[in-house]
Amino acid sequence: MPSPTRLFALAALLVSATALVPPGHQGVPNQASTPDNTPAPTPDNAVIADTAGQVNQKSSAPIDAPPNADVAPTTVTAVDGTVTDANTTIAAASAGNSTRRRDVGRFGKRQSGFEQVFAGLPAGQHDASIEGTAYLTYTVVNNATYNVDACLAWAATIPNCVFVNLYYEFNNELLDFVFSEKSNLKCAAYGDIHSAAEKTNFGGQASYPQVGNATVPLTYITQSSGFATKNLVDPDTPEGYDLVFGPTGGANNAPGYMGFAFIDKYDVDACAQLCNGRGVDPVGGSCQYFNIWRAVVSGVPTTYTCSMYYLVADESTAVNYGQGDLVVTLSRGYARRSLAIDGGFEGYTACDEFCFTASDATWTGTSPAGGVADAGIFFFPPYARTGHGSALLGAAFGDDALAGTLAPAAPIATVAGRQYVVQFFADRSFSGPTLEAAASVEVRWNGKKVGGVTGFQTYGLVQAVVVGTGSDELSFVGGAAPAWVFLDDVSIFAL
Ligand SMILES: *[C@@H]1O[C@H](CO)[C@@H](O)[C@H](O)[C@H]1NC(C)=O
Ligand SMILES: *[C@@H]1O[C@H](CO)[C@@H](O)[C@H](O)[C@H]1NC(C)=O
Ligand SMILES: *[C@@H]1O[C@H](CO)[C@@H](O)[C@H](O)[C@H]1NC(C)=O
Ligand SMILES: *[C@@H]1O[C@H](CO)[C@@H](O)[C@H](O)[C@H]1NC(C)=O
Repeated sequence: MPSPTRLFALAALLVSATALVPPGHQGVPNQASTPDNTPAPTPDNAVIADTAGQVNQKSSAPIDAPPNADVAPTTVTAVDGTVTDANTTIAAASAGNSTRRRDVGRFGKRQSGFEQVFAGLPAGQHDASIEGTAYLTYTVVNNATYNVDACLAWAATIPNCVFVNLYYEFNNELLDFVFSEKSNLKCAAYGDIHSAAEKTNFGGQASYPQVGNATVPLTYITQSSGFATKNLVDPDTPEGYDLVFGPTGGANNAPGYMGFAFIDKYDVDACAQLCNGRGVDPVGGSCQYFNIWRAVVSGVPTTYTCSMYYLVADESTAVNYGQGDLVVTLSRGYARRSLAIDGGFEGYTACDEFCFTASDATWTGTSPAGGVADAGIFFFPPYARTGHGSALLGAAFGDDALAGTLAPAAPIATVAGRQYVVQFFADRSFSGPTLEAAASVEVRWNGKKVGGVTGFQTYGLVQAVVVGTGSDELSFVGGAAPAWVFLDDVSIFAL
């Protein structure tokens, strides 16, 4: 016969098992499932400013390259505080491997004509050409006169060109004898606006061949003038993103920071590619937002920052105006567009405190034959990862152990052949480690299993890569009371 103590322990166990109040009756989640309250990281602005002091993105038209070269693709000059090798491509700097084609050579929205921002020194004096950021390409124009008009007309054909530096370069063998144009009047195009303070390239290079022991004449520069538009080209919003704010003089200091990259031009498409290709944060998941801004150090454009976030920020946190000599300029925020409508289940607001439903305007919960309330949407902050809404899989009242199905009310409009990542957070902790060990949720894309997760855990990231067909059915199938599964923050991002 069991001792009274053992009987008591057995009874307590039975009571605790039967005392499990199901979510449909506003049960309290298992205490072992205390959420992780570690604050989401924010940018380390000192590291960004320090790295800005290490990169050198400034250049002039080369003395040894032919005119009219194609504008080189945007490159990455630093990632998370580490200066990268020269010519690091956006793809190489991305942890993922998004192979999306970029619009190369697309015209931005040019605003106004070019006006002179500084004049060259008088003809007889040695001058210097610009060494500045965002160098694009150069041409030579007919040097019978100081041909400003030809230079500006050419500049208008170079996408994103907002500044030209016009100057004579003497003693360059290629210009004097090799290139067919036979002109030493160079017109160099830039994607950023520069000033006379950046006239630091005085030439002094040997271009002519050595003949006997004669002194090789060194290159030198005269009449270096600059012409600029009023502003940089207003960028088109990158595909798959929405402009959140900008341009302003404040960079985001927001939570959910994943890291940063420096790029060699103000190129929002390059930032978008870096965000799409950024590795997943184990807590927050995919990059969902980027902040691009220009660093002006001691008055000189120095680098272009892409800061990446797994939480969407806005202008209210764009309050980092710079450090020391570094001033933040042209700051813009872009949010990655999710194809999941109301992925946070925040649209269900039938009460102020606690309520639930099988379906709302954007989501449909269904039970299998014989099942009761096996999938639904809850208004109840304690069940949500963020906000007040979440979805539940598994019988809300614990009436059966059947799996429910939750699906968007309308198919997802995709681009056929395009890859997407379905991201969501699943909590399998309500009933505690023992009962939730059996918890399981499956992600289906057009009825086929593409991913899922099993076992006890508080809200954790789940991702599945899918391919669009044009119109696609997403569904989540799972839960088997008391191994309930809560879902929240569903996103579908193009890769
Ligand atoms: C970078 O690319 C340019 C142009 O393609 C090339 O001339 C240069 O040698 C490259 N530099 C390095 C370090 O690879
Ligand atoms: C890209 O990623 C996929 C799946 O993540 C992998 O199978 C493929 O080999 C990768 N391709 C390249 C070029 O890295
Ligand atoms: C024009 O450029 C060519 C080639 O560099 C040079 O030989 C010639 O002297 C230049 N003419 C003038 C007027 O500077
Ligand atoms: C080259 O140098 C030698 C000795 O230094 C000198 O005698 C000769 O005249 C020089 N030749 C020329 C072309 O300057």
